[in-house]
Amino acid sequence: ITQADLTAENHLMIGGVDTLALAKKYQTPLYVYDTGEIRSEIKAFKQVFEANQVDYQISYASKAFSTVAMYQVIAQEGIHCDVVSGGELYTAKQAGFPMSRVSFHGNNKSEAELTMALDNGVGCIIVDNFYELKLLSKLAAARAQQTTIMLRVAPGISAHTHEYISTGQADSKFGFDLNSGQADLAVKQAQAAPFLDLVGIHCHIGSQIFELNGFKMIVDKLVTLFARWQRELNFYPRIINVGGGFGVKYTSADQPLLPTEFVDAIIKETVAQTQAQQVPMLEIWIEPGRSLVATAGMTLYTIGSSKEIPGIRKYLAVDGGMGDNIRPALYHAKYEAVLAKDPTLPSEEVVSIAGKYCESGDMLIWDQQLPATKPGDVLAVLDTGAYGYSMASNYNRNPRPAVVFCEDGHSQVVVQRETYTDLTRLDVPLITKTKTGH
Ligand code: LLP
Repeated sequence: ITQADLTAENHLMIGGVDTLALAKKYQTPLYVYDTGEIRSEIKAFKQVFEANQVDYQISYASKAFSTVAMYQVIAQEGIHCDVVSGGELYTAKQAGFPMSRVSFHGNNKSEAELTMALDNGVGCIIVDNFYELKLLSKLAAARAQQTTIMLRVAPGISAHTHEYISTGQADSKFGFDLNSGQADLAVKQAQAAPFLDLVGIHCHIGSQIFELNGFKMIVDKLVTLFARWQRELNFYPRIINVGGGFGVKYTSADQPLLPTEFVDAIIKETVAQTQAQQVPMLEIWIEPGRSLVATAGMTLYTIGSSKEIPGIRKYLAVDGGMGDNIRPALYHAKYEAVLAKDPTLPSEEVVSIAGKYCESGDMLIWDQQLPATKPGDVLAVLDTGAYGYSMASNYNRNPRPAVVFCEDGHSQVVVQRETYTDLTRLDVPLITKTKTGH
C-alpha cells in the first residue's frame, strides 16, 4: 500500500474510490476490483511480446474470475479468453464477447457443451483426451463444420507448487500422456479427421508458480517433440500454448518473479529452441488467470465479534469467510488484511481473522499484526481478485456478496448481492399429502 492508495484522511482507496464509502454504499462483505489494474496487467503482458517481436496470443483463463463485466473488459482490451464449461461460455456470450476469440478447455466436456461451442463458432477447442477427440470429430463431421483444435498434453513436468493445483505432472487427469505415445496417436487421429484443424499443442503445468524452470522445461520438451513430429508425422504445429500459472504476490513474504519476467523467459526459450532444433518459429499463447486479477481485487468485511484465549490467540470475526473465499481452507492460502479507515496505523496486536461459517476451518488469516479494532470497523483482505468470487458458495445459506468495479474514481456494481429470495428461488417445496390418520 502506497500513499497513492490513500485518501486525504488515510482511508484505503481502490480505483480512486474510498473503500469506507464503498462499504457504506454497497454493504459488506463486498468484492471490489480496480478495473484499471486489470487493464495494466494485460498491457504489461502485451508489451513483453511486442518488445520481443513475436506472434502471440494472450488468453485470459476466466475461471479465475468470470462475470459479464469481466468478459467485457477482456473484450475491450482485445485479448482472447478461455472457458472451461458451458456456463462460462454462456456468460462470455451474454457479455457479447467475440466467440472467435474463445478457447474451450476441460477434461470432460459434454456432448451438449461441445455442440454449444460448435453452434457458437468458438475459436478453438482444446481437446483433452481420446473420447473427446472422437466425439468432436463426429460432431464436426456431422455438420461439416471446420473446427480449430489444439491438443492438450501432459508433459510430465511437475511445477513446484501446492499439489492440488499442479496439473502438468504425468499422473494427472488432464491431457494426452507424452511419455507413452498417446500424444503421437492423438496427432494422427486429429490429422485423419477431415473437419478438425489441428493448429497447436497446449500444456499447463500448474498454478501460483514461482520458478522459471518448469516453463523452460516445457518449452524444451515441446519443441523437441515438434521437431520429431515434423520428421515422423509431417505435422508442423503452428502454436505453442504454455498455459498459465504465473505466481503473484499475496503476502509480504512472497517474492515471485513478475508475470512478465516469466513470459519474457518463455519467449526467449522458444526462440532459442526453435532455432536450435530447426522448427519454424511458433506463435506463443499464454493463459494467465490469477496474474490478471488477483492483486486487482480485495474483499471488504465488517468486523464483529472477537474472542481472546489468554496466552493462546485472539480471534477477530468478520461477516464473510469461506463462502466468499475458500482458498485459505482449501489450499492454506495466505492473505494480508488492513484496516480500511487507516492502513498506516501502527499495529498493536496479533489477531487471527475468522469467518462467520459454522466450521472451525473457516479462517481467512492466521496470526497477523493489526492495529486496535472495534466492531463495525471495515477490514480489507487484499489480493482476493482471483478464485474468490469464482469459487464462492452458499454454504450455510449465506447469500454471496456483490462485486463492484472501480475505475478513475467511479464505482459500479457488476454482480448484485444475493438476497434470501435468491437462496430459495430454485427450492421446490415438498408436495404434502394430507395425512388422514391411520
Ligand atoms: N490454463 C489452464 C489450462 C488452467 O487449468 C489454468 C488454471 C489456467 C490456465 C490459469 O492458471 P492461473 O494463471 O490462474 O494460475 N482454484 C485454484 C487455482 C486452480 C487453477 C486451475 N487451472 C486456486 O484458487 O489457487
